[in-house]
Amino acid sequence: MKEVVFSGVAPSGNIHIGNYLGAIEQWVELQSSNKYQNIFCIVDEHAITVPQNPEKLREKIREVTLLYLALGIDPKKSTIFIQSHVSEHAELAWLLNTVTPLGDLQRMTQFKDKAKKQKSILAGLFNYPVLMAADILLYQTSVVPVGEDQVQHVELTREIAKKFNNLYGEVFRIPNVALKKETKRIMGLDDPTKKMSKSAENPANYIALLDAPDVIRKKIKSAVTDSGTEIKYDLENKPAISNLLTIYGGFAKKPINEIEKIYQGKGYAEFKKDLAEIIVTELAPLQVKYKGLEKNPRKVKKILKDGAKAAKKIASQTLKAAKNAMGL
Ligand code: TYM
Repeated sequence: MKEVVFSGVAPSGNIHIGNYLGAIEQWVELQSSNKYQNIFCIVDEHAITVPQNPEKLREKIREVTLLYLALGIDPKKSTIFIQSHVSEHAELAWLLNTVTPLGDLQRMTQFKDKAKKQKSILAGLFNYPVLMAADILLYQTSVVPVGEDQVQHVELTREIAKKFNNLYGEVFRIPNVALKKETKRIMGLDDPTKKMSKSAENPANYIALLDAPDVIRKKIKSAVTDSGTEIKYDLENKPAISNLLTIYGGFAKKPINEIEKIYQGKGYAEFKKDLAEIIVTELAPLQVKYKGLEKNPRKVKKILKDGAKAAKKIASQTLKAAKNAMGL
């Protein structure tokens, strides 16, 4: 049997170039290696760990599904499904909650960051990493391709799996994280000290995959830069230009030192103008495919139905083994 790749995006906010360069691009690469069984989930039950408007959430779930497909996740090679369509996720999360120390969840930096922004902190937000562990462990996953901000959650997943296996016998495979070295952390265009975030209040923080060309040009033009004039990768002294170089390299598929050479003696304005055009050009085919898929809701519904069926087949076996091991 092939080893399993599993990952997901939460359908909240606007999916941006950080999500693509950090995570989804890896999925497409892993898929085309033909080495793995690929499972990609739209993790809607994660989205509801902060308050959501039901109508908007429904729309976002649809948007993320279409983006997966438009970005090249191929239902013939990968299983694509919606988390809430496979009830085993919520059920295994409950079982895993009973082996997860409270202190481990209190350490999660993403929880601490997100909690700061909430008026009332929901128990679901606190337990979110346990649901993520369930997502991964249900499929006996080997490889979890994500951005750097999810590493701590995958590490916790490993700990939860080991603890469960120690207590109840070998039920879960221990997964490994996969990161894309260059683009694992894309920073905000408005503040290069914070990661690009789909829940950012200021849309100038990110470039959404569905942003129109003129919006992309405007956002890149107004992106924060550093003092000086040189186009040079220097995280400490030039965090903003370094981030733009990373994005440039990610889309143009060029090493950073080559890009630095191209812009030797040239200014920020010229660099930014070219960068905007590269992003516009690279996102254009995806946006065309997205529009095409929008016209074919029946096809998409069928993909999700088949995906949920295939996912459930695996998930139900693992859940059964976990319950059995626990004496339930
Ligand atoms: P989410 O929806 O916040 O982000 C989706 C993916 O994008 C990556 N990412 C980034 N990569 C580089 N630079 C950035 N600025 C950036 N922002 C986000 C994330 O690391 C992620 O890979 N909890 C997860 C979803 C999830 C999941 C899972 C992932 C739920 N269950 C099981 C893997 C396996 C999340 O909220 O990602």
